[in-house]
Amino acid sequence: MRAVEWNPAGPAVRVIDQRRLPSSVEHVDLSSVQDVAQAIAAMTVRGAPTIGAVAAFGLALAAHASDASSLPALWDDIARATRLLQSARPTAINLAWALDHVTRQVTQSQPASVAAAKASLLAEAQRLADDEVARNRKIGQHGAALLADGDTVIHHCHTGGLAAVDYGTALGIIRAAHEQGKRLHVLVDETRPRLQGARLTAWELQQLGISHEIITDGAAGHFMRRGEVHAALVGADRVAANGDVANKIGTYMLALAASANHVPFYSAFPTSTVDLECPDGASIPIEERPADEVLHLSIDGQPIAPAGSRARNPAFDVTPHELITALVTEAGVLRPPFGPALRQATLEGMPA
Ligand code: MRU
Repeated sequence: MRAVEWNPAGPAVRVIDQRRLPSSVEHVDLSSVQDVAQAIAAMTVRGAPTIGAVAAFGLALAAHASDASSLPALWDDIARATRLLQSARPTAINLAWALDHVTRQVTQSQPASVAAAKASLLAEAQRLADDEVARNRKIGQHGAALLADGDTVIHHCHTGGLAAVDYGTALGIIRAAHEQGKRLHVLVDETRPRLQGARLTAWELQQLGISHEIITDGAAGHFMRRGEVHAALVGADRVAANGDVANKIGTYMLALAASANHVPFYSAFPTSTVDLECPDGASIPIEERPADEVLHLSIDGQPIAPAGSRARNPAFDVTPHELITALVTEAGVLRPPFGPALRQATLEGMPA
């Protein structure tokens, strides 16, 4: 199941509308760069590698729509599209990385005509999406060695195929271990406020036939303290050069609980999520989302907060590298000190 694919008949980028799950699996065709930017901002598509891939196809759509008759005019249109897409969400570096990567690949190939540049932008977007899936499978293979038959794993947010083009990153590790015949049980953090865990992780685990239970985010420490958890697994939206990890809000508290209870804490991501230009987590921009996402929930038909309540809604937090046992990338399992290992994995592991 591909979360993002090119539909030549549109042309359009075809995505699974993640807001409709788990109730229904609905595909949406995004046929302009504006549609793509809007789908990212509204979280119709979400998850760092998926955002990157859909943005790359967004550039191909911008190129298709461009009436430029010269290469400089086409690059002006692409630069405008890049700014629009990049402004859709700030934290996941995969978005900026994908836009930069695709544009650089095409300019370096020195296309001879506008038509050749347009074709090349689409081919590079397709290649980027395929490469993400290949990276995920390697992450799964490397990470599966960290899990033993009979383990109970706690997982935060959603890192499955929907979030990572296909297969998944942290969830890909669980999937790979399951495919190897290891019997695992997953405690699924519901992941307030948008409930990516309860809605999407539980749905994917159900599709894969992997044993799981949904827990409230606040229950994670309780299960760790009782010795019921063997590992904590999360993804990442941006990893700083020193190994600090920005990921879904609540990841930091989970890492603190894991550290206090001697539970190994792993973050899994492709090297397209590493930002070597951010020296540490303090320089990673954290998205603030509308207060409505926190307040608009009802229990027994009643709103959960008094009318007029205010709320804060940071979408991500930063887990300092000291709390992380290992980072899992397509290049392998990286152990502290993370700085040199991340540098090597990112600079050597990526396609030219
Ligand atoms: O706000 P979201 O749902 O896009 O946040 C997603 C996460 O935090 C994921 O854990 C991360 O992007 C890794 S996806 C493989």
